[in-house]
Amino acid sequence: MTDSASTGAALARRYEDVLVITIDHPPVNALSAAVRADLAAAVRDAQADPQVRAIVLTGAGRNFIAGADIREFGKPPQPPILPNLCNQIEASAKPVVAVLHGAALGGGLEVALAAHYRVALPGARLGLPEVTLGLLPGAGGTQRAPRLMGAQAALDLMLSGKHLSAEEALDAGLVDSLASESDALDAGLAYARQLLALRGGPRRTRDATAALADKPAALAATDAAADRVARTSRGLFSPARIVEAVRAAIELPFDEGLGVERALFLQCLDSPQRAGLVHAFFAERETAKIPELKQARPRGVERVGIVGGGTMGAGIAVAVLDAGLPVVMVEQDDAALERGRARVAHVYDLLVDKGRMRADERAARLARFTGSTHYDALADADLIIEAIFEDMDAKLAVFAQLDRVAKPGAVLATNTSYLDVDRIAAATRGPADVLGLHFFSPANVMKLLEVVVGRQTAPDTAATGFEFARKLRKIPVRAGVCDGFIGNRILAAYRQAADMMMEDGASPYDIDAAVRAFGYPMGPYQMMDLAGGDIGWATRKRRAPTRDPALRYVQIADRLCERGWFGQKTGRGYYLYPDGARQGQQDPDVLAIIDAERLRAGVRPRPYTQEEIQRRYLAAMINEAANVLRQGIALRPSDIDVVALSGYGFPRYRGGPLHYADSVGLPAILADLREYAKEDPAFWTPSPLLVELAGAGRDFTSLNRAA
Ligand code: 3HC
Ligand code: NAI
Repeated sequence: MTDSASTGAALARRYEDVLVITIDHPPVNALSAAVRADLAAAVRDAQADPQVRAIVLTGAGRNFIAGADIREFGKPPQPPILPNLCNQIEASAKPVVAVLHGAALGGGLEVALAAHYRVALPGARLGLPEVTLGLLPGAGGTQRAPRLMGAQAALDLMLSGKHLSAEEALDAGLVDSLASESDALDAGLAYARQLLALRGGPRRTRDATAALADKPAALAATDAAADRVARTSRGLFSPARIVEAVRAAIELPFDEGLGVERALFLQCLDSPQRAGLVHAFFAERETAKIPELKQARPRGVERVGIVGGGTMGAGIAVAVLDAGLPVVMVEQDDAALERGRARVAHVYDLLVDKGRMRADERAARLARFTGSTHYDALADADLIIEAIFEDMDAKLAVFAQLDRVAKPGAVLATNTSYLDVDRIAAATRGPADVLGLHFFSPANVMKLLEVVVGRQTAPDTAATGFEFARKLRKIPVRAGVCDGFIGNRILAAYRQAADMMMEDGASPYDIDAAVRAFGYPMGPYQMMDLAGGDIGWATRKRRAPTRDPALRYVQIADRLCERGWFGQKTGRGYYLYPDGARQGQQDPDVLAIIDAERLRAGVRPRPYTQEEIQRRYLAAMINEAANVLRQGIALRPSDIDVVALSGYGFPRYRGGPLHYADSVGLPAILADLREYAKEDPAFWTPSPLLVELAGAGRDFTSLNRAA
């Protein structure tokens, strides 16, 4: 073994006649300019070194290479650019073996595809997830992957962004061999030595023909993919370009195909969707950076108690069981407990029925579940989550009980959607141990978790909430105490804007269509029909005595609820659902009710364009988000974006409401708000933060950097 060069981001070391180049660029070996330069130099030097007969590429740390350096997108490209580096590797006169462990994703997999041989270690994850960032594989991936795995499989990989295991990658033809050893260096050296012994030389992926030999079948696969993309990719820019690039791989010589890929990649790189999706990627990783985690260590959570086994309690129980922790559920009586247990079991039954879970896995999870009608059963729990119905007095009574039975140091959490966490905490002798854990429905599926930090919540209690979220593979967002925290508070504002437009002349169907056209999977009235109008109605009735008389109150929803029209579950709401249909139909009776309400309220209806509906809806959302930020309810603008993206269906490619506001320009949003405020100053008064930022020529992104 001799060292030939030590280059910082890529270390080249010779083991007799094999040169091992190790990419060492924490945290994930992303292909930044320094890595590319070092790799290019090492491969070039190896060509000239007569002692080197084969090259092995490996990654240091937990991954091979996680892909291009996402932070470089949108900045001027630094040579060598990745496609050229890949071509250089492929052109090596000495065989190159890539040894894949951990993540080999995006540009990382493309480097491997340009190598001549690929060995995967157990646990390796291979994928081309560029589509999730609004991109396509832009370093030869769209040309090389189809040549190894065929058009159909390559399209599936690139359009889904999914990861393949080492075994799946072997089956698909992406790798040549699975290593039995878990050490990348040993595996690479063993493979290279064997190769040299067999006189194996460079074998270039660009020359592979077998997987695309049946050209009509390959073209048919791209046609089918193009159809599927047109139907399902809802306004996304890059999927259709991926299909186009694969078509070029089938029809054109390799270098021309690369040219097509490059042009399409640059189009994607320039698109606002890429900027939105990359923002979302980093925003999701920022949320866990909270001051409390710097001040305190989380408390250990080994056993979890849940009070209430309704929709949320059962969903939370499943999420906790899925994370490998035991759960004890407390309900008010045996019948309710049995219903709670049945809800939990039902989730697993469905998974088993669909073949997505084995029966023994179901049994193992349910074995960790116990139930009781006595609070004493919670005495061992490290964390107790209350999920009873939304009623302050009932919750205060539960917390008084928890205070009695919980062991010292146990963290007590409420899943309340709106209620004052500080008041709930005050019902206990240890308010420092209390916080809100606001899950979203279905709690075992939805990734978002608002961690509500109250006035007296201790730093280690907050840290425990974040660590618990990590165990549950949720995206935690820190929220302060206010009515509705981050998400529901902002939701209330844009729903109010929608209701006002409805009374002023837009139909609920127009509003839903405009919101869908913006990129939401469904509009607010479809959403209300799905969730059930009765929940909101109960809240409105409860709040009626304290409602601000200066704020306009649109009564249309009340008129529907008075008729028992609660949405899908009652067969009608804003839409009609004949015979249990899930897709609603427009309802002339609803339009008549709205007309009557307009008359009663003395409103002369006027038409709304789709654009105006979208602008008002977004302006209300952005304005309230600015207030939430100003009051410190959210730590940073990007946290609000994450809440909207992962809890409320905001289109991911638009990056979230505040990223979107920046892309439109804050002066334009402010001008809209000032215009609307002429009609209704109480609702539309611009947030002082928005006024300040627009006045200073700043945007929300500048606050992200400061956070
Ligand atoms: N570029 C720059 N930074 C990256 C990165 C990348 N490709 N991938 C991850 N990071 C950063 C994260 O932002 C995070 O930074 P932080 O600590 O400052 O917050 C840090 O690395 C660790 O990341 P994770 O928290 O995500 O670590 P995990 O261990 O949970 O996951 C991973 C590791 C599976 C590699 C995950 O980070 C991931 O999926 N990364 C992105 C993979 C990807 O999309 N690659 C394609 C890039 S596009 C491309 O290659 C274009 C090409 O075709 C030309
Ligand atoms: P639910 O009505 O489905 O379930 C409430 C359960 O609590 C019932 O099973 C009831 O028997 C039980 N319960 C009531 N009092 C109890 C007590 N003293 N001790 C033990 N059990 C008791 O309600 P849901 O929808 O599950 O909501 C629960 C909480 O979660 C509420 O605070 C709600 O605001 C919040 N939430 C609800 C969401 C949703 O989409 N449904 C989303 C996020 C939060």
